[in-house]
Formats: sequence, C-alpha cells, structure tokens
Amino acid sequence: MNINEEILNLDWKREPYGLYEPIEYTLAAGGKRVRPQLAMIASQIFGGQDEKVLPAALALEVFHNFTLLHDDVMDKADVRRGRPTVHVKWNENTAILSGDQMMIEAYKLLSQLSATYLPTALQLFNKMATEICEGQQYDVDFEAKDNVAIEEYLLMIRLKTAVLLATALKMGAYIAGAEEEAQNALYQFGIHIGLAFQIQDDILDVWGNPATFGKAIGGDISCNKKTFVTITAMNMADEASKKELQYWFGQTLEDNTEKIAKVKAIYDRLGVYAECEKSVRQQTDMAFTYLASLPQNAATEQLRQLANKLNTRKD
Ligand code: IPE
Ligand code: IPE
Ligand code: MG
Ligand code: MG
Ligand code: MG
Repeated sequence: MNINEEILNLDWKREPYGLYEPIEYTLAAGGKRVRPQLAMIASQIFGGQDEKVLPAALALEVFHNFTLLHDDVMDKADVRRGRPTVHVKWNENTAILSGDQMMIEAYKLLSQLSATYLPTALQLFNKMATEICEGQQYDVDFEAKDNVAIEEYLLMIRLKTAVLLATALKMGAYIAGAEEEAQNALYQFGIHIGLAFQIQDDILDVWGNPATFGKAIGGDISCNKKTFVTITAMNMADEASKKELQYWFGQTLEDNTEKIAKVKAIYDRLGVYAECEKSVRQQTDMAFTYLASLPQNAATEQLRQLANKLNTRKD
C-alpha cells in the first residue's frame, strides 16, 4: 500500500472553500509522511494487514498537519515545505479554523477503525494529543526563560514531538495484535527516535540547506527558542560568548538577519554542531536497543533503515 497516495486521495472538494482549500493545500504539499509510515511498518512487524491500520495511519498524518498550521502561527513561520504557510497565503483566522477542522477530520478518520480497536485507539490518540499541547506550551514558555536545563528541554520535545512518533508505532502494533510488552518496546523506540528527530530538526533550523530544507533557516533564533542547539551552546560557552548569546536571545526584532548571523557565528566558533550531532546518534542508538526483543523480519529492518535515514537527514 502506498500511504502517500492514500493521503493525496482524501477528498477536500467541499464548501466553504475558505475552510477546505487550505487543508487540501497543506496535505498536497508532501512532507516525509513519517508518522503513517511508522504505523504501517509497526503493524507489518507483527504480520498485520495494511487495510486494518490505514484509518489510524491517515488520522495520524492529518493530525500532524493540523499541528503544523497552528505551530506556524505560534512560531511566526512564513515558509513550510518550500511554500508559504497557511497563515501567510490566507490569514491567521484561516490557519486557526482550517487547523481546527483538520483535527476533527483526524478524529473522523480514526473512528473508521474497526469497533474492536476503537476504544483503546482513542485512548492512545487522546493521550498523545494532550501531550502535544503540553509540549507546545512549554516550547512557548521557554522562549521567555533564559536558563532552560537540558532535562526540561528533553521533556518538552518528548511531549511536542516524540509522543506522536511513539504513538504511531504503538497504534500499528496494537491493531496488528502485538503483545503489550512489544507495543511498549516500540513506543520507547519511538520516543528515542522522536527525541533524535527533534534534535536533528533543531540542528537543521540553523545549518540546514536553505534550498532544500523547505523552512526558513534561523527561525528558532529569531523566536528565541530554547532548542538543543541553544542549550548546548550555553553549556559549552566561555563567559564572553555566554554574555553575547544572552544579549541576542534578549532581543525581539523585526529584521533578524544580523541576529541570525551573529548567533550562528558563535555556535560555529564553539563547535556546537558536532556536539549536537553526537546526541542525535546517542538517542538513535538508545532507540535501537528497544528493537532487540521484537520479531526480526523485513519490516523490522525497514524500521531500522527509516530511523537511520530520518536522523541523518540533511533537509
Ligand atoms: C515537522 O515534522 C515538525 C517536527 C516535529 C519537527 P516533519 O519534519 O515530519 O514535517 P513533514 O511532515 O515532513 O513536513
Ligand atoms: C514542532 O516543532 C512540533 C509540533 C508541530 C507539535 P517545531 O516548531 O520545531 O517544528 P517546525 O520546525 O516548525 O517544523
Ligand atoms: Mg515551528
Ligand atoms: Mg514550534
Ligand atoms: Mg523546528
């Protein structure tokens, strides 16, 4: 089954167009489709049928895309997947309301699961959805906080990013009839892959290739986000560099060109990139330890390859 085609086949030709066109625009723009792929592969590891897990896989991708509409408003991000974001192409009200509708559509898709699985699937989905909101709130709170500890950061990204990947995996395994222990092992795998994934996203926000990343480089610096890169830099910095970083992260500016260049220069001087990449590798290695107890087959191997590809991605 081609999950990308299944997503593109969802029909949004409905009125009012002002509500549904932005949904079609968002889902047609591609993206890596990581979460539905994870749900599918997890199911395949246990010999599950793709058709059975499909409603959950689609629900996860639509939900993910919903979070992006609101996230781009919150992060003042103008570009995603190489295109103007919904709040730029339309306006903020559209991003809010089409986003809300996408969340409802995600639940409608999920409710197409067989009645046998629906109560548990809903429970998993609701827990994940609440945790994402909690993570997003910490992310916003940290913009105004200057000494975010690495443990606080890891909790924040576990909530905003990792639980969605972990839930996709657990959902696929559950629907395929895996034992609870195996479902939980895949969940933990997803958490650590998710942590690595968000750290890599933070890295690419600074050092990604502008031609292929699809998002504006330096967006996190502009918003004073406390990313893995920021926190690592503060931990590595001498007193003078620390002062300089604190100065820039105390500034909220209209034009961020100079701020981004200055902050990036400090990161480069301190050798922050290599240190961050080390952590991506560590989280990925940690993730792989959870796969040892699972059936070892072609799908398990595909999962390893996907995880490696994701966390060495350059865009
Ligand atoms: C973006 O997710 C949000 C993060 C958690 C970093 P992706 O990087 O999976 O976005 P798409 O769907 O591939 O565009
Ligand atoms: C995204 O984190 C997390 C969610 C959307 C829930 P980011 O804000 O880093 O994601 P990007 O960089 O905008 O894709
Ligand atoms: Mg963002
Ligand atoms: Mg964000
Ligand atoms: Mg980001």
